[in-house]
Amino acid sequence: MADPSAAAATHHGPIHDSTGVPRRDLLQLITAAGAAIGAGAIAWPLIDSMNPSKDVLALSSVEVDLTPIVEGQGIVVSWQGKPIFVRHRTAVEIKEAQDVKLNELIEPQPDTARVKPGHDQWIILIGICTHLGCIPLGNKPSDPRGDWGGWFCPCHGSQYDTSGRVRHGPAPANLPLPPYAFESDTKIKVG
Ligand code: FES
Repeated sequence: MADPSAAAATHHGPIHDSTGVPRRDLLQLITAAGAAIGAGAIAWPLIDSMNPSKDVLALSSVEVDLTPIVEGQGIVVSWQGKPIFVRHRTAVEIKEAQDVKLNELIEPQPDTARVKPGHDQWIILIGICTHLGCIPLGNKPSDPRGDWGGWFCPCHGSQYDTSGRVRHGPAPANLPLPPYAFESDTKIKVG
């Protein structure tokens, strides 16, 4: 009588299980499924770590060295994922911002309420248009700054003055102010 194990040992084709599916194909299927589950398991902690808790967000802050920002120039720094505009205003820009009659403003606010006492050459803003959230232009020397010399939002044409107050809609409100403090005359801490 022939030895069945001898037949298996000499069998070179795919080995079939009782369902008739070649075992090699089954193994590939199982491996692919395992890889998909594995990728899912790895993706979650990564995504989770990109959403820090409110406590962590509240603690995070950014220091900005003001020394390199010359008069008339503005820069953008990132704080908690938001663009923060830091502009070094000229004497003319400060005077224009201070001289505006409040009843001409869409959201009346004196310039003095938007800068820190003794540091009115610096305007610090959250650079997110209050219309639909675009980032207005006006920080690079080549950027348009609008008719009021501040920032211009290219999305729907809103314009802000040198105090970040909206002067032309459709934006309904002034650019918001982030929490910040002067650590020295040449350094601020945002957050
Ligand atoms: S988002 Fe700025 S004008 Fe619409």
